[in-house]
Amino acid sequence: MALLLPFVAAFSPRPAVSRMASILRPVSMKHDGAQSSSVPCFKSIEMKLEAGGLPGSIGTVGSRRSVLSVGAAATFGVLWKGDRAFAAASDGNHIGEPVVSGGPLPLTVGLGTGPPYVQKDVELAIDAGYRLFDTAQEYGSEEAIGNALKKAFRSGLKREDVFVTTKVDIYNMGYEATIRSVRESFDLLGRLDGGIDLVLIHWPCPFVSKDVPGAVQKYSSLRKSTWEALEKLQQDGVAKQIGVSNFGKRHLRELLAYATVRPAVNQVEVHPYNQRVELAKLVKSEGIRFEAYSPLGKGAIGLLEDPVLTRIARAKDKSVAAVILRWLLQRDITPIPLSRNAKRIRENLNVFDFALTEDEMRAIAKLERGQFVLRDDETLA
Ligand SMILES: NC(=O)c1ccc[n+]([C@@H]2O[C@H](COP(=O)([O-])OP(=O)(O)OC[C@H]3O[C@@H](n4cnc5c(N)ncnc54)[C@H](OP(=O)(O)O)[C@@H]3O)[C@@H](O)[C@H]2O)c1
Repeated sequence: MALLLPFVAAFSPRPAVSRMASILRPVSMKHDGAQSSSVPCFKSIEMKLEAGGLPGSIGTVGSRRSVLSVGAAATFGVLWKGDRAFAAASDGNHIGEPVVSGGPLPLTVGLGTGPPYVQKDVELAIDAGYRLFDTAQEYGSEEAIGNALKKAFRSGLKREDVFVTTKVDIYNMGYEATIRSVRESFDLLGRLDGGIDLVLIHWPCPFVSKDVPGAVQKYSSLRKSTWEALEKLQQDGVAKQIGVSNFGKRHLRELLAYATVRPAVNQVEVHPYNQRVELAKLVKSEGIRFEAYSPLGKGAIGLLEDPVLTRIARAKDKSVAAVILRWLLQRDITPIPLSRNAKRIRENLNVFDFALTEDEMRAIAKLERGQFVLRDDETLA
């Protein structure tokens, strides 16, 4: 019992969002006492919360940032900062849910990587708290992630707390090349226990327009054999889950018609200037998780200077980037921003202690312009 008291005192509910937040109170807390050296880190915590005058049910949460239910009414994210825990209502969704290898793509902020990414960048991100990593055969960052993770595992990071995604390059599509290349990715990523968490088909086809005669038929067949290879790799334990990227509505419906294993994820370009509302509806109705790449518009289309976003950011005392990432999370979309800058890497993870109001969400919805930074996947064969 003596072990519990200091921690209960350290718990500070700092609800950011909901109407219930002001009456969220911890009434008691128990944990299993498994404490790490630097920060409180428990295998399980039971907290009794009082919300809306109702005694809350007990939620069991993982370490550092997690989610628990209170009654049947609401879900609260729990964010650890140093030795303090903060609770933030998340309006019934799972923002900030823990990263679990083998679990669904978590609704949290992941680390985007790219061609310049090297091991020390990944190490910096791991230290900052990232546990969800995005790479691709194309980016040349698989080995950097593999090496950084191997080092972190030696220092105590647990494999089950990490989720790594890679993607099959357009030049490796087709059954044999997919099998061979994903096995190579598996090696580069350090032969992650249980397999790579998620392997995606990077693009539905090489960059060929659907208007080219015969192209749709040709690439439909290439997509199918690539998907069959991913299903085989999953059976063989090389991939834990499989999914797609840059699949427009037509590509997705086509795949769903024959897939034995349904895609777990569709990763596409999403940001306030390109909100993908129709695709989001389809993906959600099919039970597929949605992931946003180029969430900050690559920092290249004026998004970070947008006056509406800037006004909201000032009101929240947050950066524009944080507002965009939070907006995505509140739409049930997992963002994977890229940064190689230590301050911005941390800033992009600092989105769990505030929330956007419905008015703010509506104001951002009005920024839609259908603007692609990369390419419009719906036009591809
Ligand atoms: N599936 C696909 O086809 C596909 C395509 C593209 C990207 N992706 C994935 O998505 C990830 C992210 O996409 P992206 O790199 O295209 O674009 P992004 O994340 O929208 O933008 C990255 C740019 O924004 C800057 N930035 C990051 N955080 C910032 C902040 N807090 N404030 C101001 N500027 C900030 C970065 O510069 P600094 O480094 O200087 O901070 C970088 O120049 C990629 O790394 C990759 O993993 C997937």
